[in-house]
Amino acid sequence: MITYSASHTIRIYLAMGLLLLGSTFNLYGRADHHRVIDLQCEHLINPLGLDEHHPRLSWRMESDAKGAAQSAYKLMVATDSLKLVSNDELLWDSGKRQSPQQLVVYDGPELQPFTKYYWKVIVWDEGGEPSSPSGVSHFETGMMGIANWQGTWISDGATMHELPAGYFRKSFDLGKQIASARVYIAAAGLYELHLNGRRVGDHRLDPMYTRFDRRNLYVTYDVTALLQQGDNALGVILGNGWYNHQPLAVWNFDRAPWRARPSFCLDLRITYSDGSTETIRSDGSWRTNTGPVIRNNIYTAEHYDSRITIGDWDMPGFIDTTWKGVALRAAPSNHIVSQQLHPIRNVREIVAQSIRKVNDSVYVFDMGQNMAGVTKVTLNGESGTIVRLKHGERLYPNGRVDLSNIDVYYRPKDDSEPFQTDIVILNGEGPVEFMPRFNYKGFRYVEVSSDKAIQLKQEDLVAYFMHSDVPAKGSLNSSNTMINKLWEATNNAYLSNLFGYPTDCPQREKNGWTGDGHFAIETALYNFDGITVYEKWLADHRDEQQPNGVLPDIIPTGGWGYGTANGTDWTSTIVIIPWNLYLFYGDLKPLQDNYDNMKRYVNYVERLSPQGLTTFGRGDWVPVKSRSSLEYTSSVYYFVDATILAKVAKLLNREEDRLYYQALAAKIRQAINDKYLDSTSVSYGSGVQTELSMALYWHVVPDELRTKLAENLARRVQQDGMHLDVGVLGAKAILNALSENGQAETAYKLAVQDTYPSWGWWIANGATTLQENWDMEAERDISDNHMMFGEIGGWFFKGLGGIYPDESAPGFKNIILKPNFVSGLNDFSCSLNSPYGKIISSWQRKGKKIYYSVTIPPNASASLSIPMQRHKRVYLDGDLVQPAIQLSAGSYEFRVE
Ligand code: BGC
Repeated sequence: MITYSASHTIRIYLAMGLLLLGSTFNLYGRADHHRVIDLQCEHLINPLGLDEHHPRLSWRMESDAKGAAQSAYKLMVATDSLKLVSNDELLWDSGKRQSPQQLVVYDGPELQPFTKYYWKVIVWDEGGEPSSPSGVSHFETGMMGIANWQGTWISDGATMHELPAGYFRKSFDLGKQIASARVYIAAAGLYELHLNGRRVGDHRLDPMYTRFDRRNLYVTYDVTALLQQGDNALGVILGNGWYNHQPLAVWNFDRAPWRARPSFCLDLRITYSDGSTETIRSDGSWRTNTGPVIRNNIYTAEHYDSRITIGDWDMPGFIDTTWKGVALRAAPSNHIVSQQLHPIRNVREIVAQSIRKVNDSVYVFDMGQNMAGVTKVTLNGESGTIVRLKHGERLYPNGRVDLSNIDVYYRPKDDSEPFQTDIVILNGEGPVEFMPRFNYKGFRYVEVSSDKAIQLKQEDLVAYFMHSDVPAKGSLNSSNTMINKLWEATNNAYLSNLFGYPTDCPQREKNGWTGDGHFAIETALYNFDGITVYEKWLADHRDEQQPNGVLPDIIPTGGWGYGTANGTDWTSTIVIIPWNLYLFYGDLKPLQDNYDNMKRYVNYVERLSPQGLTTFGRGDWVPVKSRSSLEYTSSVYYFVDATILAKVAKLLNREEDRLYYQALAAKIRQAINDKYLDSTSVSYGSGVQTELSMALYWHVVPDELRTKLAENLARRVQQDGMHLDVGVLGAKAILNALSENGQAETAYKLAVQDTYPSWGWWIANGATTLQENWDMEAERDISDNHMMFGEIGGWFFKGLGGIYPDESAPGFKNIILKPNFVSGLNDFSCSLNSPYGKIISSWQRKGKKIYYSVTIPPNASASLSIPMQRHKRVYLDGDLVQPAIQLSAGSYEFRVE
């Protein structure tokens, strides 16, 4: 506890008063019409444990004024929050900078480890009026380099084949008054941290999965409130996670080069009220044991024997003489860095929709929707009763859970570890509550079966939808329920596949398939604040890239995926994802961080395919029926990469590179068009949907043929019965190819089509997440929770709402707005919380008139173009205006009639 002197307290009240006043009056006593809000550091709110020497600081301006804009800003940083109020002894004062920028890199004196920095911002509006200072935010540095660690990596000394999870504990006595305390914990495997009998934090499955022999993540917690003067105890449970993959599957994770018994390193750094510090660390004095978690694997499930008790193992005073000593271990890598991203959490509790009792020892729960996560069950029964909780997406006709669509790549050596099936052994001493710690599954149904009769009620089992807890950014509503349901299903699939890296599916594989990651990137960024997760995933890419530029198909990987199909249509993540982060956030850092990797990647493809055409790729995966040329689709992605790289070179002032990659892009485009474009009929390849769509969406087609090609694509779709005939590459492109080229009506019909093959067909059949296969009766590639066809969830914002980032003023500084008032749809509205604030695009049809409203956030602008039909006119507040118009911040109502 910190004690303050009276004068100190008065200073705090004064400071608080000023801050409160700040919300209505600025320092000059004038009423505020603009404010600074949403301060973020490294795209997070008040982060702890930063390693970054030049963190990114960002904010938003709030204002009701039409045309509101930031003309200047001033940033102030101090190591004492009171100094920020009195404005003396600031660590860094940017001074007033004439700039509309709302994302600025810290550029003050060198930041020190283990230090809390406070900061605030003042902005000047379009008329040169300053705002009141923002509220005070803070960020805190962590280790800032491995040399500051004091702990040793420790494990329990067992082999990687040991099944039970290791428990670790350490008691310690603190003699002085504690001012603050932080735990820094890095683990190879998964950890659960306890302090004085309480679990620390609410993260699940920490730390995130990385290529463990190249980079390990540590997590920082403020544990001041959990510590006490006197006796204390730290406890850690370690799970296997991806570090020690015991089950066998086709991806060979059991042969990962890093594999070993889990270990961890921990520093608990205490600052006392007298200013001194002390670090309690992991070392040879810790004690270890095993407990009730008798088996745990990320890929299969967790087994729990409730007859094994270890008492108050995480409390001070616990006698641990029967516990063993620990083993000291080498660090898994020399690159131990701070985990700075939204953690995985049990985000949503889902109660069972129904329970079906098959007999006294078999019950089937329906959770009402597909998801990724875990269940928590409360069980009663005789000691020794073995209860199995089998999680799956489908039911057999007899109502029992069917795993046959998702257990296909599992290669169990015996039947001791069934797929997606937790096993709980009861102790006969009243209710046993169980929720796995070190595993998650993809499921909708849970079959609970036991070897002796048990009684279960519907409330005895709940599910937790788990995922990287990224804040929602987009919202959407329309008069067509199919749109609303598709949007929800897309978001469910997206979140089910976000666990510190994007996965293909949460059940069968949990693999970071590169292609699936970039097919979904726009949908991701229209709907969620995902930048921190993607920046981490790009670091995983950098760890995995071969010196020659090659990337594996799945990232991270234990070695699988450097085969022959890991080409441009999948591994272009390294180019496409940083580019989209730049477009959606206006942040250059992802481009800077990955520039050399992008170059190495493109240079590799160039060496492989010097003529400009490449077959380095997988092709249009899971198509409906027609196949597209592999050389054509792979070459299009190669063209995309070279094009983006040239733009990035320009942004980073690499003139020579810009010229080089621009020429390379032109050469690839020419080669594609020479071989695949039929300029007489205006078609590509064999003229199937994917081939036409990709030429349009990725700007391969010569400009003068664009409109004609889009007409031909619309005709093709019509000939295909207004149904899809695409795989993943076509699904990414087709709706945009149509709606961006005058064929929005066809795009809309295709998007909401509800008979096979279409997205809507899944929904019509009760899907609550997107599927892996258009054909719901197919025999392979049939996960019910896949994100690779997820472009549609982003397309609604583009093709109907018309909200696009502008690459010349990214981060939605300028918004390209081109809504499509498609026939048959009477109401559509969507919004996006952009870095500048909420963008709203909303339209309503009343009779023959369209009412269109838009909101442009402060400090942003929009280039609006309203699609026009003959004899129609556009009015703004009753005045006739042009259908193409530039708008500044504010809300506007248009009428089209
Ligand atoms: C995965 C896909 C992935 C594909 C590539 C599948 O097993 O689930 O989503 O992109 O393999 O071949």
